[in-house]
Parts: sequence; C-alpha cells; structure tokens
Amino acid sequence: MPSKDLHEDPFDESTITKLEIFEDYVQAWIPTFVMQEAPIICIFDFFAGTGYDLNGIPGSPIRLLRKIKDHIGYIIEKSVRIRLYLNEYEPNRTKQNKYQLLQDACNEYLAINQDVKGSIDLIFTNKDFETLFPKLLSEIKQHPSLVYIDQNGIKFLSDKYLLEFEKMVQTDFLYFVSSSYFLWLGNTDEFKKHVTLDVDSLKKGSFSLVHRNLITQLKQKLPGKTKLKLYPFSIKKGTNIFGIVFGASHPLAVEKFLGIAWKRNEINGQANFDMDQDFRKAQLDLFGTKKLTKIEQFKENLKKRILSGEIRSNFDALNFAYEEGHIGRHAAETLKEMKQKGEINFTATSPYITYDKVYRERQLVDFNLPK
Ligand SMILES: C[S@@+](CC[C@H](N)C(=O)[O-])C[C@H]1O[C@@H](n2cnc3c(N)ncnc32)[C@H](O)[C@@H]1O
Repeated sequence: MPSKDLHEDPFDESTITKLEIFEDYVQAWIPTFVMQEAPIICIFDFFAGTGYDLNGIPGSPIRLLRKIKDHIGYIIEKSVRIRLYLNEYEPNRTKQNKYQLLQDACNEYLAINQDVKGSIDLIFTNKDFETLFPKLLSEIKQHPSLVYIDQNGIKFLSDKYLLEFEKMVQTDFLYFVSSSYFLWLGNTDEFKKHVTLDVDSLKKGSFSLVHRNLITQLKQKLPGKTKLKLYPFSIKKGTNIFGIVFGASHPLAVEKFLGIAWKRNEINGQANFDMDQDFRKAQLDLFGTKKLTKIEQFKENLKKRILSGEIRSNFDALNFAYEEGHIGRHAAETLKEMKQKGEINFTATSPYITYDKVYRERQLVDFNLPK
C-alpha cells in the first residue's frame, strides 16, 4: 500500500488534469533522448509532494517512475542513465513529514521495480526551491533536462527563473501557476516582490483568458531574439483559473506539447474548458451571422498570409502554426482546401506540414499562387 500524506486532500479533477498533462509530456519526452542515446538525462521535480494523495492516487514522482518503467527496455538497451531529482520542502514544519512520505513512497515503488531502480540515480532533497535552484542550475544546463515546477501560487514564476530558462538550449519546463490570483492580488507588494505584471491590462481581458494573457506578458519579458517558446494550458478550478506554462526552445518539444494539448481539447487546444466560447461561435446567431472559431480564425489568418506571399512553403506554414499554438494538421487542412479551390498549387500529393517532413526529412514543398 502506498504511503500517504493524511493531511492532504484527495486530488481534485483539475489537479488530475495537470498531472495527466505533465505525465503525457514525460511519456513523449523520455524516448526522444533515449533514442538519441544521450548518456545522461535529468528530470527535476522541484515540488514533488508526498508521492500519493489521500486516496492513493499517484502524484508527480510516482507518475515519473511509472513513465520510466514504460520505457525501461530501451533505457537499458541504449545504456541511458536517468538522474531523477525529487525535492519536497514543507515550509510549515508543524505538518507531518511530507519529505519522509515522499522517500517512503518512491523507495517502496523501486523495491518492487528493480529494473527502474537499476537505471536511475534518484536524488532526494528537502530544500526551499529558492536555494536549491541555483545549486542545480549547472546540472540542469549540462544534460537534456525536464524541469517541473508544481508550485502553490505564483512566487517562482519570477523573472530571475524565467530568464535562466531562456538561456537554456536543451531544457523543457512546465510551470504551474495560480493565474487568477493576479487579478485581485497582483498589485500587492507581496506579489510584486515576486512577479511584476501589468495587472490592469490583465483585468481588462475576460476572466477566462487570464492565464493566456499572463503568458502574453511573460513573452514580452524575453529578449527579442529568444528561441524560447511559451505555451499556456488553462485549467478551471471552481471560480479560479490556474494554468500550465510550457516552455521549450526545440521545435520537437513544441510539437509534442501542442499535440498533447490539442488531443486534450480538440476545440481550443489550450484549456480544460471552452475559454473562447467556440461552441457558441460554431452556430449562427439570431441574425444568421457566424463568428469564427479558434481553428477557423487560424485557418483564415494562414490563408491570408499564403495569398499575400508571406508564407510560401510547408516550412513557413509549420512554423506559423507553432507560433500560433496550432498543430500542423490545422495548417495542412487549410492547404488542402485551398488547393481544391484552385487558390494555391503544390506538386506534392500532400502539403507535408508535419514535424517529420519539415525538421527530419527537410522535404520542402513550395506553395505556388496561380498566375
Ligand atoms: C502543488 S504541491 C506539489 C504536488 C506534487 N507535484 C504532486 O503531484 O503531488 C506543492 C508542494 O511543494 C511544497 N513546497 C512548498 N513550498 C516549497 C518551496 N519553497 N520549495 C520547495 N517545495 C515547496 C509543498 O509542501 C507541496 O508539497
């Protein structure tokens, strides 16, 4: 029976959503580097919790171990070593020892999964993120790394961490942030000490969009020529909006995250709810007019850029899709529709707007406008 933190509530639906997205990303991330035979890959779970919730539902550390188990055959075959850093720091020392529970839960898992135990170096720590992060910075930078920052609140979204991630080339990260807290607390000194945002402009937008708008502001903090891409996934929890901030600079990481996000929500790829009222937009209003859904709007924007000659190939189209937080399929559908209508021509049988065709095979497809 897994060890439990009896002082915690069971995970609610939104927590499970967050954990599943993290887990799906781990599932996609591990084989990327294992198949490249990277000798060492690192995973940092800085806010690891206790291992399981009150009902024995696994938290991030156990999910990580299970995902390693899923790929253990290749991990052993390719002699890849996984360094797994699990940190749990309980600021309120009067509570039961969450750090001990974390270690017990993981050690118990490893005792019955010796193959996983033999392939990882498991490093437990019990430190405040603020002191631990700078100590592990060189390790994060040295190897392909996945960093998970499942904080309570907003504090660690501050520029000093974000700008460190911006400099990294082989690090992907997932932050969790209580975005709607900014709307009522963002102008307080306590908040401003950690994260400075234009709270008034956040307030002007719709409440449902707060997490996405927050990411728009975070992007503005990055240097002009940054390769780092940031993507939101909003999670509604009661009357609050929380969210994931995914960050990576490699297009394969972007491809994988967007694939997961659009699989989770095929309507907007960005939330566990209908944040842009796309269901309503899909229908005609009283006057017989119809607003464009998010996907339709993207297709319209892409089409305009193709017709203006700004987007000339599958390479451009895929990068535009990534930039806009869409998957290649949405762009490919646009190209097929345009070809059918005679608005564009390309010689290949398909527009080849996929990661493999563009980044692996480098198969260029030019889009030709009719003369
Ligand atoms: C949202 S929970 C993480 C849940 C965990 N990822 C899981 O799946 O169960 C945040 C955790 O961070 C711990 N924590 C709080 N402040 C911290 C700090 N400054 N540094 C590191 N951990 C902290 C809390 O004790 C709590 O267990």
